[in-house]
Amino acid sequence: MRSIAVVLVFAAACGSKSPSTTTPRAGDDSATMVLPDLPFDKLDPDQRAAFMKQKVVPQMKVIFQNHDAKDFAGFGCKTCHGEQAKEGHFDMPNPKLPKLNFKDMSKFKKEDIEWMKNEVWPTMGKILGMPLHSEENPKGFGCLNCHTQEGQ
Ligand code: HEC
Ligand code: HEC
Repeated sequence: MRSIAVVLVFAAACGSKSPSTTTPRAGDDSATMVLPDLPFDKLDPDQRAAFMKQKVVPQMKVIFQNHDAKDFAGFGCKTCHGEQAKEGHFDMPNPKLPKLNFKDMSKFKKEDIEWMKNEVWPTMGKILGMPLHSEENPKGFGCLNCHTQEGQ
């Protein structure tokens, strides 16, 4: 009888784990890699990938799925990085994201622009530990760290 009780305790412990926890695949240690407490730009490429997996995806997934649960049901690396992510390439900005023209944003829905401006952009800057782009800080993190501009 005792062994059954032990099994039940284990099952309960596993069941209490957050369902969003990703199971690391064999040979993929990025979900468990211990990251140094440094801003994103001070990390090496492997640490950057692990940072994306551990910090960016879980937090940004919520913001994207709250906006559109259906469109972003499969949220992951490729939502931002595109198909190149499958080949292990993560170049940003990503020219496959909608191209922006700040002089004329009329082709986009107002609520989409507001969502980007009020949620996606500031949260992403915060996670990455990068000050946000502004007139006083033109090198800061901005829309164009992810998107490219029309005609480019
Ligand atoms: C919400 C959008 C978003 C998601 C989702 C995302 N990334 Fe990124 N990623 C970025 C941005 C933006 C940068 C560039 C930051 C900068 O400007 O330095 C970046 C940079 C990187 C880099 C560094 C590239 C370089 O040239 O230094 C790697 C590696 C990376 N991401 C891997 C991943 C992986 C792996 C995943 C999925 C587990 C992922 N990313 C998910 C937005 C995202
Ligand atoms: C961290 C990366 C990131 C940043 C920063 C970012 N975006 Fe986005 N943006 C995305 C992704 C990913 C999508 C979704 C693309 C899709 O539908 O698959 C998107 C979608 C959009 C759309 C909706 C396009 C459409 O028709 O569906 C607009 C408009 C937009 N972004 C504008 C902006 C603006 C303006 C800023 C700056 C205030 C900004 N974005 C900052 C990643 C980013």
